[in-house]
Amino acid sequence: MLFADYAGWNGFLGTRGSFMLDLLFLAMFAVLPVMGWSIYLVKYRKNYSLHKRVQLTLAVILLLSVLLFEVDMRLSSTKWTERAEPSPYFTPDVWCGAKYALMIHLLFAIPTPLLWIYTIVKALRNFPSPPVPSDYSGQHIKTARLAAMGMVLTAVTGWCFYWMAFVAT
Ligand code: HEM
Repeated sequence: MLFADYAGWNGFLGTRGSFMLDLLFLAMFAVLPVMGWSIYLVKYRKNYSLHKRVQLTLAVILLLSVLLFEVDMRLSSTKWTERAEPSPYFTPDVWCGAKYALMIHLLFAIPTPLLWIYTIVKALRNFPSPPVPSDYSGQHIKTARLAAMGMVLTAVTGWCFYWMAFVAT
């Protein structure tokens, strides 16, 4: 059942996803290349100021998306489980493929924003402004690589869950 008509805000991708689910699904496609570009800027172009600005902008966009998403999940008249019902990976009231996929996704989606906040707060406190490499570089590179990997895994596991719950028929 594609372009399904549920109560509340339906998505625009032609799946059973809600408007906010579709928006986040697409936002992750934009975030990953922008983050890759920001890391390229710092690693190969030594453009530390632009790296800082791009990372801060991404963080604000991501934080706003997560907030809107939470509001949507809690206030929406149609729960995600209702939208997932036609999926062969979903069975109500028992553990099923879609719920396992959601758990795996949450394993990355919950710690990653916290890791981003930690990485940003520490970077802002420890690098000079405008930012240049310092004694703090080694520590930043370690946590920032983890934060970036967390974002990639959040996106990939999110897309898998989205497909299993809201696309598969
Ligand atoms: C979550 C946000 C951030 C992520 C994911 C991130 C990611 C990275 C990564 C992966 C590198 C290492 C590139 C390499 O392999 O050489 C790096 C380097 C760097 N970042 Fe960030 N960054 C973030 C936020 C920031 C902020 C807010 C600042 C400035 C206040 C900053 C300043 C720097 C600087 C100066 C370097 C160069 C370190 C050096 O090579 O000595 N970063 N960042």
